[in-house]
Amino acid sequence: MLKKTVRDIDVAGKTCLVRVDFNVPINPDTGAIADDSRIRAAVPTIHHLQQAGAKIVLCTHYGRPKGKVVESMRVTAIRERAAEWLNTDIADAGGPGGDEPARVVAELGPGQIAMLENLRFDPGEEKNDPAFAKSLASLADFYVNDAFGAAHRAHASTAGVADYLPAVAGYLMEREINMLTRALESEERPAVAIIGGAKVSDKIQVITSMAERVDTVLIGGGMVAAFLKAQGYSSGAAEVSEEDVHIAGELLFSADAKIVTPSDVVVAKEFSGDAEASEAVMTEVPDNMLVLDIGPATRAAYAQEIIGAKKIIWNGPMGVVEWKQFAEGTHAVARAVAAAPNAFKVVGGGSTAAVIEDLKLRDKITHVSTGGGASLEFLEGKILPGVAALDDKE
Ligand code: 3PG
Repeated sequence: MLKKTVRDIDVAGKTCLVRVDFNVPINPDTGAIADDSRIRAAVPTIHHLQQAGAKIVLCTHYGRPKGKVVESMRVTAIRERAAEWLNTDIADAGGPGGDEPARVVAELGPGQIAMLENLRFDPGEEKNDPAFAKSLASLADFYVNDAFGAAHRAHASTAGVADYLPAVAGYLMEREINMLTRALESEERPAVAIIGGAKVSDKIQVITSMAERVDTVLIGGGMVAAFLKAQGYSSGAAEVSEEDVHIAGELLFSADAKIVTPSDVVVAKEFSGDAEASEAVMTEVPDNMLVLDIGPATRAAYAQEIIGAKKIIWNGPMGVVEWKQFAEGTHAVARAVAAAPNAFKVVGGGSTAAVIEDLKLRDKITHVSTGGGASLEFLEGKILPGVAALDDKE
């Protein structure tokens, strides 16, 4: 790890502005937090700072309120859940701009915590406005970034604020960087990447990056249609752009790694939770059917590649995992990843991480990232602005 971390700073009696990514899924009907793993993942950093005698100012974004106060996007429920996990009170610091945060922070004692309102209520956050970054920095002596999930955003609280304060990584940020760097750079072989997703154009960079670093790339998800067409077969009823077919062809025929596409698929007449599923081999996908999952022969073949691997990197579901009849491909891959013996296993965040949680396989995976877009961009080989902004180790 080339960046400074919370271990490198003396925070006794000092105030730390701690950026977390508590952008958690909330059920719109009930207002209940559906998955609080991002909140739990930040607890070790906050505990460390409390024990070291710091005053702590937590801050996060939630949703996309576009620079305005949106009542349904307040962080109240998130703050309460964090307080439960930390077993302590968290004061409402208000803001995120204005005078209120400074008044609340001035009242904090060592080990005490306050939390700002949704950072994205202020238009300066997403614009990375220096004035807003400065106002955040004015609350604290140190900036601690534990928000790996937002590290691909160059916003005031993820990047700009580091211009005005000593800036270090929290434990979650450190672990994410270390694990994803190992995924990209270690020599553990054979190495397999499993990439799913709706459109090839969204995944081309990660497939290309993986193809340069692993032995085999297994392809799944809606983008299978483009790979079928690129091989001269019917892609079914899905609309596939010429560009996606071209990209799929380039990947199939000129990538360094072996790119494996499904030999059979699960298809249905319509894109719906009630649609009736049937199976088709790759050479015979009916023109009026949509490809919605990988088929049984493909699941077995993919499982064999996965079980034999010493390094496994997985990003993206194999089918429409929300609907039972199209979830089996993703579940089979999840079980194979969990079963692979003695392998280093990294699963990218978002819907792939949710599958691991649902199937209760988390303890069989070396690292399940808390970042969706952030882990994808990291695996693409990009430098994330939230990581770049942190102070280098001397
Ligand atoms: C995420 O959930 O991926 C992060 O919190 C970033 O959210 P955003 O895509 O709204 O920037």
